[in-house]
Order: sequence, then C-alpha cells, then structure tokens
Amino acid sequence: MIMKEICKVTSQREIAANIFELKVKADFVKEIKQPGQFVHIRVSNQWDPILRRPISISSYSKENHEFTMIYRRDGKGTALLAEKTPMMELDILGPLGNGFPVDEASAGETALLVGGGIGVPPLYELSKQLKEKGVQVIHILGFQTASAVFYENEFLELGETYVTTVDGSYGYKGFVTDIMKTLSFDMIFSCGPTPMLKAIEEGYPEHKVFLSLEERMGCGVGACFACVCKKKDDPNGTSYKKVCTDGPVFRAGEVFI
Ligand SMILES: Cc1cc2nc3c(=O)[nH]c(=O)nc-3n(C[C@H](O)[C@H](O)[C@H](O)COP(=O)(O)OP(=O)(O)OC[C@H]3O[C@@H](n4cnc5c(N)ncnc54)[C@H](O)[C@@H]3O)c2cc1C
Ligand code: FES
Repeated sequence: MIMKEICKVTSQREIAANIFELKVKADFVKEIKQPGQFVHIRVSNQWDPILRRPISISSYSKENHEFTMIYRRDGKGTALLAEKTPMMELDILGPLGNGFPVDEASAGETALLVGGGIGVPPLYELSKQLKEKGVQVIHILGFQTASAVFYENEFLELGETYVTTVDGSYGYKGFVTDIMKTLSFDMIFSCGPTPMLKAIEEGYPEHKVFLSLEERMGCGVGACFACVCKKKDDPNGTSYKKVCTDGPVFRAGEVFI
C-alpha cells in the first residue's frame, strides 16, 4: 500500500562532495517489498517547488521503522532537502514502484551489481538481501572523480567491490563496462546513467539483466504519464510502460531506454 506520511528526519550527513545520506522514520517502511523502490518527497511547504522529487530507498529497517536515502545536491529541490536537520518534518509518498526482483537469483549463483554515480544507492539494500539469500555478490561502482565516491566500505563488507572513476583519480580509471569484461557472473542488476544502462543491455544479451531507469516524474503514481517509455515488443504501436508504476526496474529488452 502506498502511504502519504509526514515523516521525521533522524539524521543527515554529507558523505562525499555534494552527496548526502538522509535517514527518516516512517510507518510506510513496513510496506516496502523490494530493494529499488523509491519515495516521492515534497521538499518544501511553499508553492515552489510544487513537484515532489523522486529518490530511491537505499536501505531500510522494518524493526526501526527507518529508511535511508542517498542523493546528490543538484537543483532547487535537492538543495532544499540538504537543509533538513534531525526532527524536521518531511512530506513523503511511498513506497513507490517495482524494484529489483531478488527472487530471480538463487543461492550459489553470482550476481553482478553495477552502479553509476547516484545510481549506486538502491544497490546497497539489494546486495544485503542477495547476500542473505546465499547469492555471491560482486559490485562495480562507477563515479566521475575521487571526491564523488561513497559507500565503498559498506559494499566491501558484503562482497568483492571495484571502484572506477572516469578521470582515474581513484580506483580503476575508466568505465564500469571495462571491469565487467574481466569478470564472470550469472546475472546483472544495474542502476545509473542511461548510456551506461544501454551499454550493459547491448553487451550482455545472453544474461539475465535488470535495469533501474530514471525518468523525469510528475505524480509518481501512474496518473500523469510524465514518465512513459515505449515497449520494445511494440515499437510502432502505442503501448507504453510507466517508469513510476511499472518500473523503475525493468528486465533488459522490455522497454526502449
Ligand atoms: C525512480 C528515481 C529514483 C531516483 N533516485 C535518486 C537517488 O537515489 N539519488 C539521487 O540523487 N537522485 C535520484 N533520482 C534523481 C532525482 O530525482 C533528481 O536528481 C532530482 O529530482 C533533481 O531535483 P532538483 O530539484 O535538485 O533538480 P531540478 O533540476 O531543479 O529539478 C527540476 C525538475 O526535474 C525533475 N528532475 C530533474 N532531474 C531529474 C532526474 N534525473 N530524474 C527524475 N527527475 C528529475 C525534478 O523532479 C523536478 O521536477 C531519482 C530519480 C528517479 C526517477
Ligand atoms: S510520474 Fe506520473 S505517470 Fe509516472
């Protein structure tokens, strides 16, 4: 069930340059079904900005009724979000969308988790749940530069972890796809910029691949059609999928990205 709730901020800290980790108490945490679901946040009580901002659930604890988000301070909305301090209230709609299908992986298999920049956060809860199931996890985390790197140690605690930076200032120089070529695995789960997702979809047609897409959103609940994308099995037709309610996670090949 989707809930609209006034939630309390429990902590906020800057974990890399312009990257914030925000923890919030919310009753709707009990309704979270999969890693990779997201919430839609009203960042201000004023008219501007009127649209909510979608942010992924990075991890959660049903016992503590608490979840964590990691976001980049970017435009007006996320700048306002970065000003929130403990005990402040936030109007949040959640949990939204369909996340990563943990059921698709079996104990003993190897799952490769590939994150690009601000696409890394939802992979953290996914990795925890896969590992708990006995799935071996390998992570590749791609960033632009050293100052943008976050959660390397958290992922290392769960499994083999490779960090890449585009400018080579930390970890391996280059793209996540360069490291992918050197590894063997049974399936891929990924979230990040569209060119990265496209390269993964095209490069691994024989693998089971699940991709989390990012589209600009309005309502977040399937009512406004702001987030539609075309289905691959109907390229000239008029059938669409909505990223907010059918996704954000899709099986590779399901929609045009
Ligand atoms: C399902 C989903 C999960 C996301 N998870 C995260 C996350 O975990 N961490 C994170 O940092 N970012 C995440 N994003 C991107 C985040 O929503 C945008 O960066 C944010 O909305 C930008 O808002 P702003 O006010 O700072 O920027 P502005 O540019 O001022 O925003 C203007 C408008 O554009 C929309 N918008 C701008 N960029 C994006 C974008 N890339 N995707 C969707 N809408 C956008 C805003 O919602 C707003 O309506 C996610 C997006 C989606 C769709
Ligand atoms: S954001 Fe409104 S339908 Fe998806």
